[in-house]
Amino acid sequence: MRVFIENDYEKMSLRAAEIVKQQIQKKHNTILGLATGSTPIGMYNYLISMYQRQEVDFSDVVTFNLDEYVGLSRDNKNSYNYFMYSKFFNYINIKKENIHIPNGVSKDLEKECSDYEYNIEKFGYIDLQVLGIGENGHIGFNEPAELLETRTHVAKLSEDTIKANKRFFESIDDVPLYAISMGIGSIMKSKRIILLASGENKAKAIKETLSNKLTTKIPATVLALHPNVDIIIDKDAAKLLNT
Ligand code: GLP
Repeated sequence: MRVFIENDYEKMSLRAAEIVKQQIQKKHNTILGLATGSTPIGMYNYLISMYQRQEVDFSDVVTFNLDEYVGLSRDNKNSYNYFMYSKFFNYINIKKENIHIPNGVSKDLEKECSDYEYNIEKFGYIDLQVLGIGENGHIGFNEPAELLETRTHVAKLSEDTIKANKRFFESIDDVPLYAISMGIGSIMKSKRIILLASGENKAKAIKETLSNKLTTKIPATVLALHPNVDIIIDKDAAKLLNT
């Protein structure tokens, strides 16, 4: 894993956006894996500016999002679907039919998961996957557990994650308990992965991710097995690293 420590959130976001831009310039029909959460918002903003300056063209790009809350429809302001359109897709020239986000209100969630996984497979897996990281080391909604799921599945959110994500909701009782998430295998089959983290609250998870030890209790540690991962973090998230 390569580690890039940037001075601040803006520099971290710019480096990530440059990598995405170069990937699309290299392969116009890139299959892009995308993340939600506060961390990638800066990267999305830079990509929007790059698009406006005509440095990048999303017309052939295909996207797969990591996850979606179960029970939130696409017009719910807290859904990841709503997030992706309001923070990114509405401002670029991506084709609607090229956007894939799990449907959290599907009547048959199991089928939704297997169809989603099949679709990723059909496209030949993801070229570049963007990841954030939970304070507990989760990636997507692959939470610390004895056993990790390899494929897209319905995940139960951990108490830590519910607490961390309650800031987006009116009350903690409104935070969904379940989500559809790509599995560890769906993520690990990506050709390249970039993981972004910003802020002191992520420092422990980043230290553990880079510890060269693998445990299902910190799902991001599995990334050590991947041959092409860039960890792009700001100084605060790097605080516990011996650099
Ligand atoms: C959420 C998402 C993850 C995201 C993480 C960190 O629960 N499922 O994909 O990486 O938490 O979020 P944030 O960037 O807001 O800290």
